[in-house]
Amino acid sequence: MTSPQRKILVTSALPYANGSIHLGHLLEHLQTDIWVRFQKTRGHDCTYVCADDAHGTPIMLKAQAENTSPEALIDAVYQEHTRDFADFHIAFDNYYSTHSEENRHYSNTIYNNLKSTGHISQRTIMQAYDESAGMFLPDRFIKGTCPKCKTEDQYGDSCESCGATYTPADLINPVSALSGATPVKKASEHYFFKLNHFETLLKEWITSGKLQPEIANKLQEWFDAGLQDWDISRDAPYWGFEIPNAPGKYFYVWLDAPIGYMASYQNLCDKTGQDFNDVWGKDSQAELYHFIGKDIAYFHTLFWPAILHGAGYRMPTAVFCHGFLTVDGAKMSKSRGTFIKARTYLDHLDPEYLRYYFAAKLNSHVEDIDLNLDDFVARVNSDLVGKAINIASRCAGFISKRFDGMLGDTIAEPALLAAFTEQSESIAHDYDARNYSKAIRNIMALADKANQYIAEKEPWKLIKQEDQQQAVQDICTTGINLFRILMIYLKPVLPVLAEKTEAFLNIPPLCWDDAQAPLLGHRINPFKAMMTRIEPEKVAAMVEASKEDLETAQQTVIAANENPNGPLADEITFEDFSKIDLRVAEIMAAEHVEAADKLLKLTLSLGNEERTVFAGIKSAYSPEDLVGRKTVMVANLKPRKMRFGLSEGMILAAGPGGSDLFLLSPDDGAEPGMKVK
Ligand code: MSP
Ligand code: ZN
Repeated sequence: MTSPQRKILVTSALPYANGSIHLGHLLEHLQTDIWVRFQKTRGHDCTYVCADDAHGTPIMLKAQAENTSPEALIDAVYQEHTRDFADFHIAFDNYYSTHSEENRHYSNTIYNNLKSTGHISQRTIMQAYDESAGMFLPDRFIKGTCPKCKTEDQYGDSCESCGATYTPADLINPVSALSGATPVKKASEHYFFKLNHFETLLKEWITSGKLQPEIANKLQEWFDAGLQDWDISRDAPYWGFEIPNAPGKYFYVWLDAPIGYMASYQNLCDKTGQDFNDVWGKDSQAELYHFIGKDIAYFHTLFWPAILHGAGYRMPTAVFCHGFLTVDGAKMSKSRGTFIKARTYLDHLDPEYLRYYFAAKLNSHVEDIDLNLDDFVARVNSDLVGKAINIASRCAGFISKRFDGMLGDTIAEPALLAAFTEQSESIAHDYDARNYSKAIRNIMALADKANQYIAEKEPWKLIKQEDQQQAVQDICTTGINLFRILMIYLKPVLPVLAEKTEAFLNIPPLCWDDAQAPLLGHRINPFKAMMTRIEPEKVAAMVEASKEDLETAQQTVIAANENPNGPLADEITFEDFSKIDLRVAEIMAAEHVEAADKLLKLTLSLGNEERTVFAGIKSAYSPEDLVGRKTVMVANLKPRKMRFGLSEGMILAAGPGGSDLFLLSPDDGAEPGMKVK
């Protein structure tokens, strides 16, 4: 072991369970995963937990809009999130949900502890209420005209046009985004956390030197502005945990969200037998780190340490805050195709490209990080394929073909090898300090040295000289050992490439200290291609596919406003789709229906059975146009009793209506009864 073993618990912020993972989330999870993998390869007892943040009004409303339960919604999202993270090789020790019994337990415990020590107060406040939806409205669900610049249709907390921030009460003509009703003021009793009780503690925390300077400065500003009571309750209907002994009152999602870190760890302890209090207990000697984005620093650096302390738990060792991801120099944009979901990326590109690129850019500051797509292609291709892997591919062939796969017993250039091993601690220090970009810069400088060495020695020339065989084996043995050290240093970033290296070198999993002893007199396996170059076309295709995502979204918005075709329906699963039994049908007879000005009565043949269907296509077709035509029908629609008789299915036609209606017809050759798939 390099240094005494540390016990460390690490978290990434819990993604909301109402949307897909995108490259912005991945910046954070990859930063965390690299750090955790680094600590593990150094031999430390490092645990990484996370969870979905599964409560709150947006999730409740989204479930309603999708005609499903919040439980079903968060389950489906959980599946999606865990698959996305796994495919990016993010190796959680546990990934859980805030909608769990463990989280209910710790939320209640913390609340009860805070209450019994006098850190919770109650008072009645006036809030915007939507009488037709029957609920209090979060600021985000109130819209109206900006009080400053008079732009219409702005949210209740800020104006997207002029950037002003305000409260919903300031909006001109406020309406509920849920129902369109004008909100009324209604009284309700709320529960508050007395943040100002922790003033001394927080002052110390701010000046402790454990926080990034940017964050400490920001905290000082908040501090100077005065520590306000924090409203931790919400009224029913709310999707979350009910507050103990407070019927109809729920914990605000941001109260139970960070407690989700504890719940996920407890859930892990129940599986592994570790002791929860070793990490979270007041006297814990373990280290606790939260990786978060700058937008949620307030919650993690003020409320969270105060709540932990007030409830009798330890405080975080540090909070590591990162900046935001931009793509090609700008905020991720759906119209430009730069709002890229994890899955869209994976459909086109190898996750290790992105792991490497983020590592090459990340540092310990709260700066935004730019994914420049051209630079991404150039950098990955040149560094990984052109430099690192190239070392192995230049040396491996000789070892396999000329020396029966055996590495020699000596290193030809011990000084060069020493230059590589000597960097071990300084590179380790850079990883530990989250200066990944510096670590990568130094690793790639070593890769340059290795390539230079091979270029100078020209083993491909020496191999032709009978008396130089031993020299070639030693040079290639040196080259492969240099490559091996580089892969040890890159392993936290590139776990799959490291695994391929281990298979190629025919060795057990590498850890950090393995860099100190070379691999000699050992049989390796034939070299196989380890990584292909990024094709720029694939990046372009990913951007295109991300635009499509948006087109659908945009069309929905446009459609809702003015498109006569109406909005696109919500996404359905393949299972949903396969429930619809579509069949080719032949129109055997068609007739007018007395007293119905839109309907025609059709007799349809499905080959071995007939159906009667009343179809609203009279404005576009005369009965005689239809007889003998084939079309497509929904054959398993529940029969519907109409005024004129029973309708046993539906035929398919497109268009806005009136004379613009177009019956769908199959190509020649389709026979009645055939299934449409
Ligand atoms: N659910 C809360 C966090 C609760 S933690 C107790 C939340 N969720 S989130 O899904 O909106 O964001 C999760 C994390 O992803 C946050 O740390 C956030 O800063 C980060 N990012 C979201 N978009 C991002 C970028 N575009 N760039 C970098 N990080 C981003 O907030
Ligand atoms: Zn404005």
